[in-house]
Amino acid sequence: MAIGILTSGGDCPGLNAVIRAAVLKGTSIYGREFVGFRDGWRGVVEGDAMPLERKDIQGIGKLGGTIIGTSRTNPFEGDATASRARASLERLGIEALIVIGGEGTLSAGKELADLGVPIVGVPKTIDNDLSATDMTFGFDTAVGIATDAFDRLRTTGDSHGRAMVAEVMGRHVGWIALHSGMAAGAHAVLIPEQRTSWDQLAEWVLSARRRGRAPLVVVSEGFVPEGGTEAYSDQGLDAFGRPRLGGIGEIVTAEIEARTGIESRCTILGHIQRGGTPTAYDRVLATRFGLAAVDAVAHGRFGRMVSLRGTDITHVALEDAIGRLNAVPQSRWDEASILFG
Ligand code: F6P
Repeated sequence: MAIGILTSGGDCPGLNAVIRAAVLKGTSIYGREFVGFRDGWRGVVEGDAMPLERKDIQGIGKLGGTIIGTSRTNPFEGDATASRARASLERLGIEALIVIGGEGTLSAGKELADLGVPIVGVPKTIDNDLSATDMTFGFDTAVGIATDAFDRLRTTGDSHGRAMVAEVMGRHVGWIALHSGMAAGAHAVLIPEQRTSWDQLAEWVLSARRRGRAPLVVVSEGFVPEGGTEAYSDQGLDAFGRPRLGGIGEIVTAEIEARTGIESRCTILGHIQRGGTPTAYDRVLATRFGLAAVDAVAHGRFGRMVSLRGTDITHVALEDAIGRLNAVPQSRWDEASILFG
């Protein structure tokens, strides 16, 4: 019997640190064996697994991405059915599955758990949009990368006297935009939770310009302007039927230029936010989640997700871990928006 590990959905700095910690403690303290399923649920459905021994996880805690690959395969869709997934887990002698993923992955995990598969979830996403944990690993790295990018955008904006617009990821929550925008001293931050008007945005931009500043505007990919109905998307749906977001930055840039007359440029940070080395914070959180996940398996605590509450690692039922977004509360917006303009 072995413990299976999979990473599914968008990659995220810290995934390898979870794998390392789980395998390290699982082999040395609990005497268990591990396999990694390649490319998330695809590996489970197709029975495509690789051994994960102590030697395979040496030195990976500081590496971005995931050594076992990921995909957005949904095990409940098309040919990738739950019964195939269950059959391959039985064939490979998997005693339990550690599922490292975000909302879509954990929802699929819960459905399999409901079918009797012993599952422990580990929350990951740069978006920090899961309400059942105070923080997800990957978020701190993404915020750091975005902040560094904005510092750079500000020097070129200052040199040309331009308004610089930067679009960040985050799906339907504005945490990356709010934190990186605050860290970089942005003159406006646009997030999905707040329907800001174009007039308000133009006012903030002009106010910064009147003080001789080159305005920096940070926009979250899921932002919907006042009067709008849904987040901008022209790239179809992902495997879980959710719209693929991105592109609102160009619309914001055009509005600023049209309303203020200030020459403006847009930068879409895209997947740079998810790439490369995890920060120390993310490595520590990911490592603690990995240790807790293997403890949960060893103690038979299935159908649960490890979670951070305050500074403690705890568990929540998978059903409580999904379905409710960790949105930016009004108080955090009120606090930050004092600084705009
Ligand atoms: O959930 C993480 C995330 O990076 C989102 O912020 C973004 O909308 C999405 O994934 C992008 O997905 P993909 O890598 O499939 O383009």
